[in-house]
Amino acid sequence: MTLQYINNELTMHGHKLTDIAKEYGTPLFVYDETMICEQCRRFHSALAKSRLNYTISYASKAFSAIQLFNLMAEENMGLDVVSEGELYTALKSQVDPARIHFHGNNKTDQEIRYAIESGVEYFVIDSLDEIERIDRLATKQVKAVLRINPGVEAHTHEFIQTGQEDSKFGLSIKKGLALEGVRKIEAAENIDFMGVHFHIGSQIFESTGTVETVKLVIEWLKENDIEIQVLNIGGGFSIKYTDEDVSYPIEEGIQTITDALKTACETFDYHVPELSLEPGRSIVGEAGITLYEVGNIKEIPDTNYYVSIDGGMSDHIRTALYDAKYELRLVNREEAHDKMMTIAGKLCESGDIIRRDIRLPSSIQTGDLLTVLSTGAYHYSMSSNYNQMLKPAVVFVSEEGVRPVIRRQTLEQLVQNDII
Ligand code: LLP
Repeated sequence: MTLQYINNELTMHGHKLTDIAKEYGTPLFVYDETMICEQCRRFHSALAKSRLNYTISYASKAFSAIQLFNLMAEENMGLDVVSEGELYTALKSQVDPARIHFHGNNKTDQEIRYAIESGVEYFVIDSLDEIERIDRLATKQVKAVLRINPGVEAHTHEFIQTGQEDSKFGLSIKKGLALEGVRKIEAAENIDFMGVHFHIGSQIFESTGTVETVKLVIEWLKENDIEIQVLNIGGGFSIKYTDEDVSYPIEEGIQTITDALKTACETFDYHVPELSLEPGRSIVGEAGITLYEVGNIKEIPDTNYYVSIDGGMSDHIRTALYDAKYELRLVNREEAHDKMMTIAGKLCESGDIIRRDIRLPSSIQTGDLLTVLSTGAYHYSMSSNYNQMLKPAVVFVSEEGVRPVIRRQTLEQLVQNDII
C-alpha cells in the first residue's frame, strides 16, 4: 500500500487524501489500483512457476464493480459470481463470459437460465437437486464442477468457515454424497462433468488445511476412479487487518499447495489436473481504505471517549458481524497515537462501532478526516441502506491519478422503488 505521510498529510501515490475527500465527499472508499494489479500478478507468477495448468477467478463477492472487473480482465483473471446480480454486473464489464463461473447453494431457475444464455464457462454445482434442475433447464450442453465438502475445518471465524461437516455448502465426501453427486452429473444428459471444487473458509493464514484437503481429495478421486480436468480449491487467502494478522504469503503458500498437488498425484498415481483458484479478499482487501469525517466527540468520565464518524455499520458491518478489528490513521496531520478511544458510527445501534479501544491522536477534533485501513473487501459489497444511509462513492488511485468508479447513492435513488 502506497499510503504515506508527505508534508504532514496522508497521501496515496502522492495524491492527498484530503483533496480526494473534498472532491468526492465522505464516507468514501479509496482503492490503490496499482496494488490490486500487483496482487493479481503475484498469484499469476506463483502459479506460473509451478508449471501446472491453472486459472484464477476473482471472487466478485469481495467487491463488485464494473471498472474493477475490467481491471480483472486486463490482469487475465476470470470471475466467480454467485447471483444474477453479480453475473449482470460482470456481463457489463470486459470480462469474457467464458471466464465466468456460476456458484451458489440455491441457484434459482431464472439464474440457471440466465447463466446458460450468457455462456458462462461452468456451474459450480452445490447439491443433488441442482444437478437435476440444471439438466432439465439446459438448452445446450453445459459444463459443471461439483462443490464437495472435504470435512476439513479451517482455523478461522466460525461464520466464514465452510469446510466443516455441518455446512450448507457442498456435498460431503465422508457421507458419500460427493460420490453420488459425481455419478449423477456423469449420468446427466446435458451436463459435462469437469471436476471438483472446495473452499474450506476465508481469512486463512497458512496452507496446512488446503494441503491436507488436496491430498484427501486426490486420494478420494483415485479410489473412486473419478476423472477430472479441473481442481478448484476456492479462495480464502488472508490479509492483514491489524498486527494480529498475517497476509497470506502468496509466493511460498502457492508453492506449498502446488507441490502438495504434484506429490499427491504422484503418490496416488493420478493425472495432474488444471488448478483453479478463487481469491477475493487477497486481491482487493488491503488495497482499499475508507475515509470518514469526524463529527461529535463525547467523553464519559472514567469510562470511554467516543469519536463519531459520518458513516458506520451501513458501510462497515464486519466489526459488528465478526468482531473484526481494524487500524485507523488520522489523515490531515501526522501525530502520535497517545489516547485510548472508541470510534463509533452514526447509526442508531449501540453495536455500530468501527473500533473499540484504539490508541489514536488526542488532538482529533470535529472536521478531521480519519481513515480505516484494509476495507477493500466485503465492505462496499456488504454495505446497506440501514437508517436510509446512502452507499458511499468509490474511487481508484494510481500514479496516473484518481478516477471515480462508483458514484455516491442519491436520496432520490433511496426511494426510487417506493410506490407512492
Ligand atoms: N470461493 C468461494 C466458493 C467462496 O465461498 C469464497 C468466499 C471465495 C471463493 C472468496 O474467499 P476470499 O478469498 O475472499 O476469502 N463476508 C465474509 C467473507 C465471506 C466469504 C464467502 N465466500 C467476510 O467479510 O469476511
